[in-house]
Amino acid sequence: AAPTRYEAETATISQGAVESNHAGFSGTGFVNTDNVAGSYVEFTVNAAGAGSAAIAIRYANGTTVNRPADVAVNGTVVSAGRAFDGTGAWATWATSTLTAPVRAGANTVRITSTTAGGTPNLDFLDVEVTVAGNDYQA
Ligand code: GCU
Ligand code: CA
Repeated sequence: AAPTRYEAETATISQGAVESNHAGFSGTGFVNTDNVAGSYVEFTVNAAGAGSAAIAIRYANGTTVNRPADVAVNGTVVSAGRAFDGTGAWATWATSTLTAPVRAGANTVRITSTTAGGTPNLDFLDVEVTVAGNDYQA
């Protein structure tokens, strides 16, 4: 299947806000999480069937310091303390892609900061699901 885009501005935010003051984002803005450990953005991602999802996270980190975050799918951390290194400017966006198992239907993908810096600014997820045992992807 082609990737589906999930904008951060329509996701669930814990300790953060939708903003649009740094150019280059998709949709109507991005999420600036509070600079505290534990701030997060949770996306609800649909899968046509159980399988594997390639999850591309678009982010910006205008500092020179890593903003690590746990990435959890359905409550299970699939990438602990994932590095989101500086991108050079808040208007310079980069993509970090990981693969994780998903179930049929709704899945949660939560990105939670693990340090006092908070997460990087988050723009969207592009998610491409490959359904297990299905040779004929739509
Ligand atoms: C700046 C920037 C924000 C960013 C924040 C941070 O305030 O404008 O977009 O989220 O730094 O350090 O997290
Ligand atoms: Ca922030």
